[in-house]
Amino acid sequence: MFEEKLYPNFRGRDFICMHDYTQEEIYQILEVARVLKEKQRRRESHPLLAGKTLGMIFTKSSTRTRVSFETGIYQLGGYGLFLSANDIQLGRGETIQDTALTLSRFLDGIMIRTFAHQDVLDLAQYATIPVINGLTDLLHPCQVMGDLMTVMENKGRLKGLKLAFIGDGNNVAHSLLIGGAKVGMDVTIACPAGYEPNPDILQLAQQDASETGARLSLVRDSREAVEEADVLYTDVWASMGQEAEREKRIRDFTGYCIDKALLQKAKPDAIVMHCLPAHRGEEITDEVIDGPHSVVFEEAENRMHIQKAIMALVMA
Ligand code: CP
Ligand code: NVA
Repeated sequence: MFEEKLYPNFRGRDFICMHDYTQEEIYQILEVARVLKEKQRRRESHPLLAGKTLGMIFTKSSTRTRVSFETGIYQLGGYGLFLSANDIQLGRGETIQDTALTLSRFLDGIMIRTFAHQDVLDLAQYATIPVINGLTDLLHPCQVMGDLMTVMENKGRLKGLKLAFIGDGNNVAHSLLIGGAKVGMDVTIACPAGYEPNPDILQLAQQDASETGARLSLVRDSREAVEEADVLYTDVWASMGQEAEREKRIRDFTGYCIDKALLQKAKPDAIVMHCLPAHRGEEITDEVIDGPHSVVFEEAENRMHIQKAIMALVMA
């Protein structure tokens, strides 16, 4: 029975940062996601969370995260409840503590997308049910778990590959550093001065890298970053909440676009990734995102499969 393969070491845990999970556990999640994807493809039912409810709190917009969690919990036999922060009392000043304690009486798990990472940590501290990080200003771990699944499907392995991230040292870059370090994948970030990843995150990732042999580096020149790269990755220059800086960022990020010329400097079989939504013509050209190296919509699909695995494991 597949249910018996749901590793008990996950039950009841939060999924907030990949650093909190061992390399073995990361591979266990990937394996469960692979099986669930196969079951869904064959339309074989897999009601691992029958009768369970996931609350999904959003204080930022979302297409992929909302739809993939909602369809994912439904496919697992459970129910997803969309909770816009504008509509619940949290948006009117009810404390995170009281929100966590209340929601824990109704739900079996909470997914939250918000600004301050500390709010997610606080929610998890007071909730008696698992809390899953659906993106904060600091991290986007579910995205990177789906990305690792996508790399694995395309390259057959993770360890020893090189990923080059071109752009802002943002939440996605942070999770890629930690995720890459965990699985032994080299990660090079190319960013302009002033847009480097958070040093605390780099340090955390370095701890993981020292155990797996992954090499993490920071360069200015995007051409240097993509040399020998198996995976090219980019994200928007202005993340949610940084809209006012958009014009300045467009100027500062000149030269940090994945275009055909840059792609040609990577390995000939390199894949191109983007968490989406994309600003076509800024951080990536139409030609590349729609071209044969791009796996961006596989990435989007894999968000659902990997999050089903995470939910099934922690909410079982
Ligand atoms: N990649 C991602 O998280 O997309 P959404 O903002 O649409 O959820
Ligand atoms: N860095 C982007 C990712 C969106 C999925 C943001 O935070 O807006």
